[in-house]
Amino acid sequence: MRTPIIAGNWKMNKTPAEATELIQALKPLVKDAKCTVVVCVPALCVHAAKQAVRGSKIKVGVQNMHWEPKGAYTGELSAEMVKACGVDYVIVGHSERRQYFGETDETVNKRALAVVHAGMTPIICVGERKEQREAGYTDDLVAYQTLTALTGMTPDEVKKVVIAYEPVWAIGTGLTATDEQANETIGVIRAAIARKYGKRVADKVRIQYGGSMNPKNASGLMAQPEIDGGLIGGASLKAEDFSKVVNF
Ligand code: 13P
Repeated sequence: MRTPIIAGNWKMNKTPAEATELIQALKPLVKDAKCTVVVCVPALCVHAAKQAVRGSKIKVGVQNMHWEPKGAYTGELSAEMVKACGVDYVIVGHSERRQYFGETDETVNKRALAVVHAGMTPIICVGERKEQREAGYTDDLVAYQTLTALTGMTPDEVKKVVIAYEPVWAIGTGLTATDEQANETIGVIRAAIARKYGKRVADKVRIQYGGSMNPKNASGLMAQPEIDGGLIGGASLKAEDFSKVVNF
C-alpha cells in the first residue's frame, strides 16, 4: 500500500512571516492527517517554515534546485545547501519552470538525480499541454518525460521518488482533469515505470495529480486507485483549504 502524499506548491508567494502564519494555522487542522503532508515553500522561507513545523509531521520542501554541487551558477541552490536547511522534498521540472525558465527533460533528469543522491525526495512533474492532449500525444509524452527524468536511478531509488502528473491546461485555470482522465494518465505513467523497472518498483512509486485540485474535487480524485496524492497550488495558500484537501 502506498501512503498518499499531499504537497502544497506555494510558488512565488509568502514572506517568511507569512509562511510562519500559514503553517501555524495549518498545524492543528492537519494533526490527524492520514497522509504525508508537505509544504514546498520559497527557499527564503525554509528557515521560518522549519521552525513553524516543529511539533508536527509536516515536511518542508523547496521548488527547484541545481544539479552541480557548487560553483559559478548565480542565483542557484545546491543540494548540499538545501539539505543542510532540513529540506526533505524538492519539486523538479514543474511546467512553469519548463515554460518560463528553459527547463528540459534532460535538466529535469540532472536535478532529480542530484536530489536523490543527496538523500532527499524529488517530486518530479510531468504533464501535457492542451494541444498535445488534443493531438493524442498525452500517453507517449508523459511516459517519455517520466522515464527520461528517472534515467540513471537504481530501482531502489526509483521506488522512493514522487511523480506529479500535472496537465498544463489544468494548472491555475480552474479546469481539472476528470477523475477518470487523471486516473488513466497516472496509470499510463505507472505502466511505463513497470515496463522499465518492473511492477514491484512501479507499485511503490507515489504518483500525485496536480492542477486546480481543491477541497471540492479532492475526494473524487483521491478515490481513484492510481492517484496517490496531490500537488496543490492556489488552494495550498490558505490553511483551511489546504487542510480540507489533506483530510480528503
Ligand atoms: P493550481 O493548484 O493553482 O492549479 O496549481 C497546480 C500546480 O501547479 C501545483 O504545482
